[in-house]
Formats: sequence, structure tokens, C-alpha cells
Amino acid sequence: MTTTGYMSGFGNEFATEAIPGTLPVGRNSPQKVAHGLYAEQLTGSAFTAPRGENRRSWLYRIRPAAMHGTFAPFAQPRFHDRFGEAPVSPDQMRWNPLPTPEAPKDFVEGLYTIAGNGGSDAHAGVGIHLYAANTAMRGRYFYSADGELLIVPQQGRLHIATELGVLDVEPQEIAVIPRGVRFRVELPDGASRGYVCENFGAMLRLPGLGPIGSNGLANPRDFLTPVAAWEDLDGGFELIAKFNGHLWHAPIEHSPLDVVGWHGNYAPYKYDLRRFNTIGSISFDHPDPSIFTVLTAPSDTPGTANMDFAIFPPRWLVQQDTFRPPWFHRNVASEFMGLIHGVYDAKAEGFAPGGCSLHNCMSGHGPDAATFEKASSADLSKPDVIADTMAFMFETRAVLKPTRQAVEAAHRQRDYQACWAGLQKHFAPPR
Ligand SMILES: [Fe+2]
Repeated sequence: MTTTGYMSGFGNEFATEAIPGTLPVGRNSPQKVAHGLYAEQLTGSAFTAPRGENRRSWLYRIRPAAMHGTFAPFAQPRFHDRFGEAPVSPDQMRWNPLPTPEAPKDFVEGLYTIAGNGGSDAHAGVGIHLYAANTAMRGRYFYSADGELLIVPQQGRLHIATELGVLDVEPQEIAVIPRGVRFRVELPDGASRGYVCENFGAMLRLPGLGPIGSNGLANPRDFLTPVAAWEDLDGGFELIAKFNGHLWHAPIEHSPLDVVGWHGNYAPYKYDLRRFNTIGSISFDHPDPSIFTVLTAPSDTPGTANMDFAIFPPRWLVQQDTFRPPWFHRNVASEFMGLIHGVYDAKAEGFAPGGCSLHNCMSGHGPDAATFEKASSADLSKPDVIADTMAFMFETRAVLKPTRQAVEAAHRQRDYQACWAGLQKHFAPPR
């Protein structure tokens, strides 16, 4: 399927049809749907969720989603929900980028689970995965019934053909695929890699802005949802599902990307992180990093997110009498960081684009020794311009438990803690 266009806005009530006259007027399920299509509702929230939380779409398709063969276990042992198979160490951890596969691997085959918490039964928590792939998904479609997928490409564009239309995303853009939506990923640039947060909790939404006002951070009109696009393909295809923590596959005799028109507010979307309106201090200190929140998935406790997606984009630092890089800290929340592009301003070296770090609940971290020494004696009469960078964080309420394969991985930096070893003792009490 080729890219056909987007509609603007976050969580809007959209209506789109690839063939004029597809959508029924004034009702959802007429006795006969136009063009011989089937009507099917896809819900992403409980029927009775409050109106502001209620998400569902009506799909008008060539065949209903019920049509496929019997599911059997699908072997992809690196992609799973087995977080914390061994006791979780409070050590700070960091990894080099996931190596590019030598054999052909598509997006699903290239997924590698690094950490997570909670699960689909609890409707809380996240799975954090990396991907490194080098071939398109051919004759193969995927969905997760366990959570929505926040996809952060770091190298190589993704062409994501979904039931509800096509998303083309490049590094520094993100895509969100709702729970249950079927899709196929092609790789226009060949070898590609990035990050995926599978959110088992409440759907991602824009954060409240409080005193910031009615504009700022990620603005709603910059979120793009695809217009309807369909393919009518018959053949011996494969439908892969992630369901209740396990992978399954079933034969399917047609492409499930056969939705000719749809309407509703449950749909995939993309966002260009370079459009984020970054806000910071123009006096002294710097705000908590919640000021960088792009999307948040709330928990049942007000103000305490199941997961926040925050970014560290290019910005100016002008604060006076202030240590300008991120401060030393320990948080109740747990932080998984990745680097999409450039250099992260709290680490002079070792945190490569495509790499990642994990700082769990109450584990101390902050700038490395080189960054501390430089920033402590920097000339504050001039602004610092942090250009050409894009780091991000998946921050969670619960402890992020690394998988066994992540702890034992050859690409884990076992000497990561040494980055703080060079911090000097400067204490000089008055005599
Ligand atoms: Fe942190």
C-alpha cells in the first residue's frame, strides 16, 4: 500500500473513505454496507468508559477480522514478557546498540525485549523492546492484543501499512499503533533499528498543561492519522498475534489490510518530535523533566503515570548561577533512556545513538565526571546551545525489570558505573 495522506489532530473523531460513498450515513451498521463490505467495530476502551476516554472505530472491510485459521505458538524467543527472570539488581545499566542481524530478519523477528513490568492481565505496565531488522515483512501481519505500540525509529525509515492506513515514519518521528490493530512493516532504507514501548496500561494521551496554558509541548494538530487505504490480496499469508504475553501465528488466506473506509477515534498516528515546543527555565535552576513529556499513559493514581514518554530535544540553556546539565538525582520512578540522534548532554561519552540505559527506582545517577567538571566551571554569561540531538525516556511507575537476555547481553556495558568513578571530592569545610 502506498502512502495516501494524513488527517491532523490528536484523538479526533475522524471519518475517511478510500472509495467515495463507503461510509454509511447516519448509522454504523446498515443492513447492507456499500460496495459489498462488512461492518466491524473495534473498541479500545470499555463500552461505558467516560466520553472523554471512550475510543472506538467502525471499519468497513472486504472480510471481517474473524476469518483466519487456528493459532499455534510462534517461536521468536527474543520477544516476550518474561521480565526479571532473576532478581533485579539496583545497578545502573547501559547497553550499546543492538547488533544488526546477519541473517534476514523482519520487524517481528527483529524485536528484542530488554525490560518491562506489569503485563496484559493487569492492564498496567510496559514491555520495552528494541528492534534490529533488515527485511520487509512479506506475507506476514502482526498485532499486539497486550498493548499499544509506541515505535521510536532510530535508524532507517519505517513504512507501516495498517488496517486503518499507512504511516511513513523516519528517525525523530514516532508512530503509535493501537492495541489490536494489524499491520505490516517495510524498510525503505534496508537495515533499520529502534525502540518500542508496548504500553499495557491506559492509552497514551497528551499531558495536562497546567499553568503553561492552552499551547505548548506537543501540540495536538501535529499528530497525524492516516487516511483509509486498502489492499485486496489473496494468498497463503500469516497472522502473528502477541496475546497474553505469548506469540501466536495463524494462516490467513487474504490480507487483513482490507479496510476501505473507517470512522472513529481509535486509530494509529505519528508525530514529528522536532515539532515539540520545548519549554525551560529563563531564570535559574531547571524544571523537572516532566516538562519534556510528549505523551503520558495515566495509572489509577492521579498524577502518577503508568508510563511517560519524554524527550530531550535541541534547546537553549540560559539559566544563571545554575548547574545547567541534568542534576544528580534518585527518583521513585524508573527510567529507560534511548538516544535517537546526536549526543546526550549529561554524558560526555558511552551513550551511543541506538544504545540505551536503565536507572531504576532510587538508583542514583546523573552527569558523568567529565560533564560535571565542565559544567561546574562553565561561563554562564553565554547561553549553551544544545543542538543536533534527540534523546528520549520511557519512565514508569513500577520498577523496570531487565530480561535475562538483556542482563547477559554481550552489548551491555558492564563498566557503566565507572562513568561516575572520576567525580572528585571537593568538600572543604571551614577551619
Ligand atoms: Fe534520570
